[in-house]
Amino acid sequence: MATFGCQMNAHDSERIKGMLEELGLGEAPTADEADVVVFNTCTIREKPDTKLAAYLGEAAARKREDPDRVIAVGGCYAEAQRERIFELYPAVDVAFGPGSITHLGEWLGAGGVGVARGRFGLDERGFAAELPMHRERSFQAWVQVSMGCNSVCSYCIVPAVRGREQSRRPGEVVAEVTRLATQGVKEITLLGQNVNSWGRDLLPEIRTEFGELLRACDAVEGIERIRFTSPHPKDFRDPVIAAMAECDAVCEQVHLPLQSGSSRVLKAMRRTYTRERYLALVDKMRAAIPDLAIGTDIIVGFPGETEDDFVQTLEVVEEVRYDSAFTFVYSPRAGTEAAAMEEQVPHEVKIERMERLVETVQTIARERNHGRVGRVEEVLVEGVSRTDPALLRGRTRRNTTVNFVGTAAAGELVDVLVEEATSMTLRGTQTVPSHALVTLDACAS
Ligand code: 5AD
Ligand code: SF4
Repeated sequence: MATFGCQMNAHDSERIKGMLEELGLGEAPTADEADVVVFNTCTIREKPDTKLAAYLGEAAARKREDPDRVIAVGGCYAEAQRERIFELYPAVDVAFGPGSITHLGEWLGAGGVGVARGRFGLDERGFAAELPMHRERSFQAWVQVSMGCNSVCSYCIVPAVRGREQSRRPGEVVAEVTRLATQGVKEITLLGQNVNSWGRDLLPEIRTEFGELLRACDAVEGIERIRFTSPHPKDFRDPVIAAMAECDAVCEQVHLPLQSGSSRVLKAMRRTYTRERYLALVDKMRAAIPDLAIGTDIIVGFPGETEDDFVQTLEVVEEVRYDSAFTFVYSPRAGTEAAAMEEQVPHEVKIERMERLVETVQTIARERNHGRVGRVEEVLVEGVSRTDPALLRGRTRRNTTVNFVGTAAAGELVDVLVEEATSMTLRGTQTVPSHALVTLDACAS
């Protein structure tokens, strides 16, 4: 199983894996040994498309040796290409969109036997929360609150692929969070393409809004940390900020996609906010939530972006001082409004701007992380460090990875004194809890 793309897709992959496990299909040690190969695809930029082509080429070669192997392609690329996928990649047996994971079991059949080749469920839309799920970590979970997107950002293929926004009912979301808490989950991340417009499409009897959902999740016993992604700045209303400030479990962290710092480009992107409105929102959030960590998404080289527009983006980055940023080179997606715009920015210009942006982002992130040195941060332990097996790894409430000296088990919340920082990670030492010190004193006397 290979997954491309965003957290929503990673979450869908957990459900796909859960379904396959129900069918008696575990993870094969290598792709070579797999009877069923599933690609959960993304199509937001061109890169994942090309990567998929390479992966599918390898899978098709293995299938030529052993024609009983099954190749399934799910996710946004499958949905966007629809019928064409079988022409482009004749080795594909099953294609399914994000809304039809529920049926994967029927199509694949037990152990891949009786697979309905060439079937696809690309027109359906259903929340698959009731499906078995294979979670990577027992103490962290994603919870999908909505699917689709009602925005019309001119560069974005998502609305065409994932359709109009549809919110899950509040009772259903809270029931899932409660069930997860009883299973030992401590941290949840609420997922939606535009997570803070959640609730507006619900029937009047149950219509509510995202701030209320945060409060309801915060009230669930056992949930220690709540995150959410991604909100749209245009829909970030005061009640959500108030809920973030008032709910203990809601982390001091927000991902607030900027896309561009130029109001002119934002308009062409159809983001419906200006640079000034975005900056005012940041000020309001920082005033309400002390110590807030802010992350963002930025696109460089949108059609018509001038040097002056780009410099405005750099200015906003310097003014906001982001803790982290995902930076993207604009990639035209067929069928979107921006792909048809005339003034496409030359590739070299995009790359040169990207380098300047990354440099600025990293310098600031390093400074922001250095600002944490000397502080004690609450860390949710995730396991052993990826770079040094002698260290543990975890995340702060502000969502920064910390490698640290300590003795805790995965899933535990511990305090860590931060001693060093890079632009991406912190390093530190677990502190001895104060009650342990009291016990030691008592022994001494
Ligand atoms: N080109 C480059 N980046 C894009 N994104 C969305 N569409 C495109 C595109 N066509 C970026 C946006 C979005 C993130 C998930 O991907 O920054 O927030
Ligand atoms: Fe795409 Fe804009 Fe919707 Fe995000 S809000 S998924 S960028 S259309």
